[in-house]
Amino acid sequence: MSKNIIKKIKLRIEPLGKERIVNKGTPLKDIIFEYGVEFPCGGKGFCGGCKVKLLSGDVKDPEKHEKLNHKLGLDSEYRLACISELVEDITIEIPQLESLILADNTPFAFYPLDGFGIAVDIGTTTIVAQLIDLSTSQVLDVQTSRNPQARYGSDIMSRILHGLTEEGSKESKILIREEVYRLITLLVDGRNITLKKIVLVGNSVMHHLFCGFDVKPLSMYPFETVNNESVEYSPEDLNWAIDKDVKIIFIRPIASFIGSDIYAGIIASGMDKTQNLTVLIDLGTNGEIVIGNSEKMLCASTAAGPAFEGTNIQMGMSAMSGAISSVNLNNSQIDYHVIGNNEALGICGSGLIDAVAVFLQNGKIDAGGALVKKDVNLKIGEKVYLTQKDVREFQLAKGALAAGLQILVNKLDKSLADITHLFIAGGFGNFINLKNVTQLGMLEINENKIHKLGNSALIGAKMLLFTDDYTFENVLSKIEHIPLDADEGFQDIFVDKMFF
Ligand code: FES
Repeated sequence: MSKNIIKKIKLRIEPLGKERIVNKGTPLKDIIFEYGVEFPCGGKGFCGGCKVKLLSGDVKDPEKHEKLNHKLGLDSEYRLACISELVEDITIEIPQLESLILADNTPFAFYPLDGFGIAVDIGTTTIVAQLIDLSTSQVLDVQTSRNPQARYGSDIMSRILHGLTEEGSKESKILIREEVYRLITLLVDGRNITLKKIVLVGNSVMHHLFCGFDVKPLSMYPFETVNNESVEYSPEDLNWAIDKDVKIIFIRPIASFIGSDIYAGIIASGMDKTQNLTVLIDLGTNGEIVIGNSEKMLCASTAAGPAFEGTNIQMGMSAMSGAISSVNLNNSQIDYHVIGNNEALGICGSGLIDAVAVFLQNGKIDAGGALVKKDVNLKIGEKVYLTQKDVREFQLAKGALAAGLQILVNKLDKSLADITHLFIAGGFGNFINLKNVTQLGMLEINENKIHKLGNSALIGAKMLLFTDDYTFENVLSKIEHIPLDADEGFQDIFVDKMFF
């Protein structure tokens, strides 16, 4: 009797440098989905957004791909991942990962410890886990994946809504715990190491969903967290089959919508250790701001995030393949860059900022934000444009951010000119044009004082592997949360800051 032997295929993925051994016949999309690759048309072969470049080998049925490439205007070296089947050893490069998930290796001061640790940043969209040698602080490996809760919606509100029922809360908790565990096993499997500690950070909703806390109070005014404590787990508590002595800790939120990702950012920026007036801004799902120094810090959450993530923008999309990520004026002509060098399908946050700046520059938008030619959309690419409502959404986001910063500065009896450093955290911050950000009045400080910090949550989580005090009283006692909407001057300042 002959046995059916399944042939194994070696798949190498660039620029991640990952190698996977998979069964012959495996759909490529099943593998690269784990690395956060998106399939804009739902994997129907229409958009080309999932294209991968062949560096060696090929997928099944190259002729079919050639025909589709022709239709989509792609070079012959590309294959559509959504319809690719793996049949031989192959190396691919994924243009979507050009805007690489930020997995930082920034050096920092530390006391060497024995063993190894894992720092995990649980983002609403992406999870990043780094394996660290605690004796050297060196990053040995990094694993990233898309947050599996995204199947319940990409924005934070839909995650909260899903978590409102008992069943939804349980599902969200299991999904995220299993996914983090999967990344951990990918980091440690095959390595002869002693894992000592795992530190997790995330926004308050991620904290609550992972820990299984009630998210209902986060769904309605005054949007409170039910638990602001760091939660320590044993591997057994989480059903994780790793050494029983590994200490696992999810760092506490600072306040309702100010999560431990921001706390980790404070640690990463060093603002808790300096006398200089320093600002940390995370333009993620909410626009969080922290301002202060080693003596006192104020933090607030603004409604600045969604527009910069493409929400409420007619052709808005996240920073993925097909998104216009930057716009310039070149001899009066509009020039733009599309992530993945693909056909432009929409515009992401960094592109939105640039586009508004360009249309102000060429006089298509006035200082109040009105389109000079009423009811004529502002064309950027062949199919991508901004509407009057998009510009208004941008103004609301910019107004909220600038007003938030102004109010916090006022509360410290300082002026914007007193700020010595402003750190922008998060993936989005890495791609924005600082000149446009300052000229549009989103951040009213000198461009030279602004620094891009990268994935500050992950840097901070890594630094927190080297501490044992998870109450953080020494820092948290200096942080005050300011509810901006309760400030009587907010409305006036907000309206004022909406103008260009
Ligand atoms: S996802 Fe659109 S072509 Fe593959």
